[in-house]
Amino acid sequence: MINSERQTARPIRWAMVGGGRGSQIGYIHRSAALRDRTFDLVAGAFDIDPARGQAFGAELGLDPARCYPDDQALFAGEAARPDGIEAVSIATPNSTHFPIAKAALDHGLHVVCEKPLCFTVAEAEELQRLAASRSRVVGVTYGYAGYPMIEQARAMVASGDLGDIRLVNLQFAHGFHNTAVELDNPATRWRVDPRFAGPSYVLGDIGTHPLYLARVIAPELKIKRLLCARQSFVASRAPLEDNAVTLMQYDTGAFGTVWSSAINAGATHSQKVRIVGSRASLEWWDEHPNQLSFEVQGEPARAIERGMAYLHPEALAADHISSGHAEGLFEAWANLYGKFAAAMEATDRGDTARLASLRYPDIAAGVEGVRWVETCVRSADAGGVWVDYA
Ligand SMILES: NC(=O)c1ccc[n+]([C@@H]2O[C@H](COP(=O)([O-])OP(=O)(O)OC[C@H]3O[C@@H](n4cnc5c(N)ncnc54)[C@H](O)[C@@H]3O)[C@@H](O)[C@H]2O)c1
Repeated sequence: MINSERQTARPIRWAMVGGGRGSQIGYIHRSAALRDRTFDLVAGAFDIDPARGQAFGAELGLDPARCYPDDQALFAGEAARPDGIEAVSIATPNSTHFPIAKAALDHGLHVVCEKPLCFTVAEAEELQRLAASRSRVVGVTYGYAGYPMIEQARAMVASGDLGDIRLVNLQFAHGFHNTAVELDNPATRWRVDPRFAGPSYVLGDIGTHPLYLARVIAPELKIKRLLCARQSFVASRAPLEDNAVTLMQYDTGAFGTVWSSAINAGATHSQKVRIVGSRASLEWWDEHPNQLSFEVQGEPARAIERGMAYLHPEALAADHISSGHAEGLFEAWANLYGKFAAAMEATDRGDTARLASLRYPDIAAGVEGVRWVETCVRSADAGGVWVDYA
């Protein structure tokens, strides 16, 4: 259980690019990073509008001299200080991730980057090579991976509780964009514009989340080939899709599906991961993240609860409060940021044993997400055909 004991020797000096006032995801980055004093927010370039970003930084309580007009000024200004930043989080629209992450790594900084990591596998692999050559950590905020019940699911699959894995049913299918809300909502407008969003909308924006969860829960499953069909039900979004279905063949013989959608009218979030084995199934739903459904064929279904003594130790390690109290996305993200900080510190110390003990969405997870989107788009745009996944 987490009790606010130090997870790192001292807080890591940290900045944000993006995540300004009114942004969807800025606050949860700050909340997660600052929760257990693993990071100390000392600088930032928070907004596409320099003046608005600098005013916002000052209102967060930062030294106004360290609230910069843009990322380039941030990296240059901080590099010139003896107490400059050691890490940066990037919470800007997708099109900016690659150049900002590359500049950060070039300045020797550890990076936390939003998903999708970038637009192409070539770019993602360039970041991977750069991070390796500079010995820097890149964490990717697949935030749902911080939920303890995902660790429980992983441990149960590894223990053989399900038998042989046959099916992986994944979905992230919300209904918030079932009409052209982008006409009034800037945060949706860039998501349906390929110049800012990249080659996909829902595949990259939400489909990659359950895809990463399945990777954590059943790591032995490797995609062999896939078929994707994508549609733009709000026609003005074409060529970007607001709905997509992906079929996946794994090299074990297991089969998977991913439904990614923003037009699932009436649904709130509807992110679900269902793993079907030869003996039993597990299901996790992000709207009830403290429970895991365990269904053994021929027996009554069981609701496994967070925080209970019967859980695997990995699922108990990151609790913040006893069972029966609801934990949520803020705790999950804090768990993830704790691991990012531990990985950055272990990297700086050259502590390879500690690094090997940490599992978190790293640069390889970022590359994998981009590869999946790129392959889905290739399949869909060829008319929905099976393509090899390499
Ligand atoms: N991990 C998750 O669960 C999750 C959830 C939502 C969004 N995201 C990702 O986070 C990123 C941001 O999404 P959002 O919904 O918060 O977007 P948003 O449009 O709500 O906010 C973007 C913020 O970035 C700022 N910004 C834009 N360009 C900038 C630049 N060049 N320099 C500095 N600041 C800049 C904007 O002013 C704004 O404050 C996207 O990549 C998105 O995919 C991830």
